[in-house]
Amino acid sequence: MSRIVYVNGQYVPEEEARVSVFDRGFLMADGVYEVTSVLDGKLVDFPGHITRLRRSLSELDMPSPATDDDLLAIHRELVARNGIEHGMVYLQVTRGAPPDRDFAYPDAATPPTLVLFTQSKPGLIDNPLARSGMAVVSIPDQRWARRDIKTVQLLYPSMGKMIAKAQGADDAWMVEDGVVTEGTSNNAYIVKGNTIVTRQLGPEILSGITRAAVLACAREAQMRVEERPFTIEEAREADEAFITSASTFVMPVVRLDGQEIGEGRPGPVAVRLREIYLSEARRAAI
Ligand code: PDD
Repeated sequence: MSRIVYVNGQYVPEEEARVSVFDRGFLMADGVYEVTSVLDGKLVDFPGHITRLRRSLSELDMPSPATDDDLLAIHRELVARNGIEHGMVYLQVTRGAPPDRDFAYPDAATPPTLVLFTQSKPGLIDNPLARSGMAVVSIPDQRWARRDIKTVQLLYPSMGKMIAKAQGADDAWMVEDGVVTEGTSNNAYIVKGNTIVTRQLGPEILSGITRAAVLACAREAQMRVEERPFTIEEAREADEAFITSASTFVMPVVRLDGQEIGEGRPGPVAVRLREIYLSEARRAAI
């Protein structure tokens, strides 16, 4: 049975899904997206993802494609139709397909394009990287200056993953003005003593929905959290490091630029936070 995807009001087999060659998502990366994880057939942190989607749309003056209730219903319908137990729902909104290519935004006659699809990941929780820890390499952050908007301009993050792969690593941490911004598709953290350090929110990074939930779990568990920039040298000397995202939850980082962090294996803070976050996320999923 082929995967059912959602395109502009219709549920269709993936082979039949179509968007126009004039779509501004395709021509200009004029689109925003969200990735919501699915655990036990339910949506994790859904209200946070919808709130961030609304903000991305409004920062770009992009029309809304549907109400929050409709978006929830479409997510659930796709999860049900594709029998997803563990996995993800990907949502993308673009500024639609005007009659011709033009740098200026189209007028209201051009409706936004809305596409959603699911990805089944049976091993999403039991990821072997959670046991071994990840290796990252540092690269300069060469993305645009509005990283707080979750746009589909993902070429540089893609290049970053390829640079990491070429060096035998799992991901790259991006560095700007001597400090770490974030991972290519995740937020970055170090642990020194009993303090968790992660960059403060701002235009330089994406406001991770998992980040917000994990920091709340950490504070609830009486862990110390500092939201401030940290340097790559600080990261090298940290006791632990980890990342967070909707697709990795909390994932330990054990090597940076080929050098071990701490003891070179997942540390107690990352391991504990992963457990706490996952149990809370599964409890609160809708
Ligand atoms: N990426 N920073 C960047 C640059 C990201 O692309 C992501 C998410 C995050 C973490 O955000 P969240 O916790 O809301 O997933 C941080 C998604 C998973 C992706 O592009 O697939």
